[in-house]
Amino acid sequence: MGEVKRISLTEEMSLAAISRVCAHSAAFKAEYGYSPRAFVLTFGCQQNVADSEKLSGMALQMGYEITNTPEQADLILVNTCAIREHAEKRALSIVGQYKHLKEKKRDLIIGVCGCMVVQEHRREQLKKSYPYVDFVLGTSVLHRLPELLCRKLAEKRRIFGSEEEYAIAEEVPILRESHYRAWVSIMYGCNNFCSYCIVPYVRGRERSRAPQDVINEVRDLVARGYKDITLLGQNVNSYGKGENHGVDFAELLERLDQIEGDFVLRFMTSHPKDANRRLVDVMASGKHIAHHFHLPLQSGSDAILAAMNRHYDRAAYLSILDYMREKMPDIAVTSDIIVAFPGETEADFEDTLSMLRRARFDMIYSFIYSPRKGTPAAEMENQIPKEVASKRFDRLLALQEELSLESNAPLLHTEQRILCDGPSKTDAGMLSGRNGQNKIVFFEDDGTPAGEWVNVKIDRVAPFALYGKKI
Ligand code: SAH
Ligand code: SF4
Ligand code: F3S
Repeated sequence: MGEVKRISLTEEMSLAAISRVCAHSAAFKAEYGYSPRAFVLTFGCQQNVADSEKLSGMALQMGYEITNTPEQADLILVNTCAIREHAEKRALSIVGQYKHLKEKKRDLIIGVCGCMVVQEHRREQLKKSYPYVDFVLGTSVLHRLPELLCRKLAEKRRIFGSEEEYAIAEEVPILRESHYRAWVSIMYGCNNFCSYCIVPYVRGRERSRAPQDVINEVRDLVARGYKDITLLGQNVNSYGKGENHGVDFAELLERLDQIEGDFVLRFMTSHPKDANRRLVDVMASGKHIAHHFHLPLQSGSDAILAAMNRHYDRAAYLSILDYMREKMPDIAVTSDIIVAFPGETEADFEDTLSMLRRARFDMIYSFIYSPRKGTPAAEMENQIPKEVASKRFDRLLALQEELSLESNAPLLHTEQRILCDGPSKTDAGMLSGRNGQNKIVFFEDDGTPAGEWVNVKIDRVAPFALYGKKI
């Protein structure tokens, strides 16, 4: 894969498109007295959040202002997710609601982007049943937004192309939502083809950015005052595989850790089959690397793991987990679990529960299996009935709640260094923030601004949060 094409937004074609759209924005402003506005709505994972920051960045570069209200927008971009049926339904229903906006404002442009529209059946559905959608833009061609918008403004035709271009686009402008937490994509795509998962079909094959591009971006973020930087990839720890620069994920992390400054480095998501001891050693000896590992287990049953095509078993998972805990006793480990994969028996599910007790995750994200068109698992026999699935799901959550509380208990009366996120969304009068282990901490609002470090003495622990007082 040393062959992956590297392109940049400063290439001639994009520049021409950007300046044409800019001219359109200027004409718009001359006519209406304000710049055209773009609204970007994001579904799905952090990768999509990061992609949306690029969509906004490009819109800004083309003379748009960014708005939080779709009613005000002249350009709406919905960045979709396809991971479960629910995510697709929500995106489609929101797009459906924009029909009346288009009726009110005929020049409104609506684009549907991201993972969902890489699937042919969804593209067809949008084309046929959502006539007010102007264009679709797949995950690997997001950086083509200027050209697409330029065409759309000139031709007025709907654009439903299916071209994907699995390149690495550098120099795409990013409009970051936060001034202290930043997402940095380091690799794209996935080669694993877990039998339930749509990602490899909608994100293409794995490809990694050049190490120097990543290092430069992180160094620049630190210099601009960013304090919490998360490296992103579908499988961050497959970073560098198949590339000819010879830098693997552990090595990249080690190099990034040498950057001077007061910041924390995180990464998401790792695949257990590529989580090796060297990576753990680099984390343990790092100055900036958070002691938090998100390591999706998916199931505690070896038979189900094999059917999922995960390439590890319970023993292998526990071996790397135990090593992490040995090297970093304060590490927080979180995981993803899928309940009711086709063929999951009661005994398989019990294996998942027993694995949770043994692994003692700090937190899990759990999902009921959702069949995805075109994946092998969707064709498997023994799909599990909804009622069985939701009972298992509830049992899983109940157990994890107990375990999460147990994992937080030792933190009572400790001092935690927190990066403040500002006022809590749920508790009036409280601020919230996160510690190195990514645990959420609430403390009394004393006006500390978002983006500042604070030390908090913990006086109460709950399963999914810690509470305390600033010291
Ligand atoms: N690349 C990451 C994340 C993939 S998506 C990884 O490999 O771990 C995030 C989570 O969604 C997965 O870990 C999995 O638990 C869940 N997921 C993926 N496909 C799913 C499906 N078809 N049904 C239910 N959950 C799914
Ligand atoms: Fe999906 Fe598996 Fe790839 Fe994760 S590793 S994105 S679960 S196919
Ligand atoms: Fe969803 Fe695509 Fe992420 S399918 S989970 S937005 S990679």
